[in-house]
Amino acid sequence: MTPGARLAGTIELLDEIDAADQAPDQVIDGYFRQRRFAGSGDRRDVTGRVYDILRRRAKLDWWIERTGLGVPPNARLRTLAFAILEERSSPEELRGYFSGARHCPDPLSEPESALSDALYGRPLLNRDMPDHVRLEYPEWMDRSFRALWGARLDDEMSGLNQPAPMDLRVNLLKTTPEDALQRLADDFIDGAPTALSPIGIRVTGKVRLGGTRAFKDGLVDVQDEGSQLAALMVGVRPGMTVVDYCAGAGGKTLALAAGMAHEGGIAGRLYALDVSKYRMDRMVARLKRAGAMAVKRRVISASNDPWVSEHAGRADRVLIDAPCTGTGSWRRNPDARWQFTPEDLDAIRANQQSIFENAATLVKPGGRLIYVTCSLLQEENEQQLAWFAERHENFEVLDVGAVWSETVGGPPPSSGPALRLSPASTGTDGFFCAVLERTR
Ligand SMILES: C[S@@+](CC[C@H](N)C(=O)[O-])C[C@H]1O[C@@H](n2cnc3c(N)ncnc32)[C@H](O)[C@@H]1O
Repeated sequence: MTPGARLAGTIELLDEIDAADQAPDQVIDGYFRQRRFAGSGDRRDVTGRVYDILRRRAKLDWWIERTGLGVPPNARLRTLAFAILEERSSPEELRGYFSGARHCPDPLSEPESALSDALYGRPLLNRDMPDHVRLEYPEWMDRSFRALWGARLDDEMSGLNQPAPMDLRVNLLKTTPEDALQRLADDFIDGAPTALSPIGIRVTGKVRLGGTRAFKDGLVDVQDEGSQLAALMVGVRPGMTVVDYCAGAGGKTLALAAGMAHEGGIAGRLYALDVSKYRMDRMVARLKRAGAMAVKRRVISASNDPWVSEHAGRADRVLIDAPCTGTGSWRRNPDARWQFTPEDLDAIRANQQSIFENAATLVKPGGRLIYVTCSLLQEENEQQLAWFAERHENFEVLDVGAVWSETVGGPPPSSGPALRLSPASTGTDGFFCAVLERTR
């Protein structure tokens, strides 16, 4: 691909990511599957630029708006502004790349050309930028993040704007962490045990896992270390009745299944529930690969589900991996920052409360309810926990340090009633996890 074609690819992908209901890496995979002519160098260049632009979007938009040309920011303008402010291309070079020739972007319009000239020679960062622009988060979340992080705002928000490492969860139904590391090494993939999760491997560099024997044989699956820790905090054991209430495509279900491993199978009952049939269907191939077909899947309705009523008071463990704003996974999905409005947050909170209520009915006396989000906002975490605890005297919030020692082992990374993980503090995605026990 010529430099112009790579810029055209960048613009097309930014537009597709904006319109898609999928994570950027899935959109990028689909895009290059249809363009087999693109070499690995082209793919690296375009993908790298796309992610760089997504991670700088607030600053690029600030510059585009500041030039006062009256052109609202879009994929083309962001690519242009990035090429000038970060890649240090000159306006002349860019006029050459935006030539309108085959596979190249259309020629620059007059305002676009004026924008290039106005930005040329400037640094991306400007001291007039407010914190939410400098640190790349929506302005409406400013109050929440300040209240949460205080003096750590810069560190924590910068951590969320770094590329994420690739973590794998070892499938204890089939292998051990030591054996999995060896099998990956046989496929020329280097990694090391994760710092906190005893079942995790952090891979060195970028790898294509799909073609390896270790993946195809179900010895490992991709899962962030934070997600593994949340699943471990459920504290499942063989013989238990366990419900994964928001199971989605089964990331945590598989971790729970491994915790119930006994003599080559799953001992006990593990139910995976979700309102989305599409997500539950995607779980099947993963269950097969992992040797966990004993998991019982069920699509439920959001309220008054008959299965939930029938199974009231029967579960030893109920995991709520609640739908949320996903602020904790912005490293992997930088575009997600701009997807939600304050009204969306209200709707998400209402759904979380309804899920909390419904899932709690399944817990038996002495059983546990584990509330998890991959959000950092207190509105979805501490406030929801307080909301539930106030209404349910028969549930006691357990001390997170004690639960961690019992389930994960070793000293916990945070203390108090809930576990908090973040890229800056634990090197994982951001997670919140609280464990409640039903007293009667
Ligand atoms: C954070 S995702 C789950 C991710 C999954 N546990 C994993 O580890 O891969 C949240 C899930 O909640 C589901 N969900 C949304 N509303 C729900 C409801 N009212 N009851 C049950 N599940 C719901 C969504 O379909 C989505 O799959």
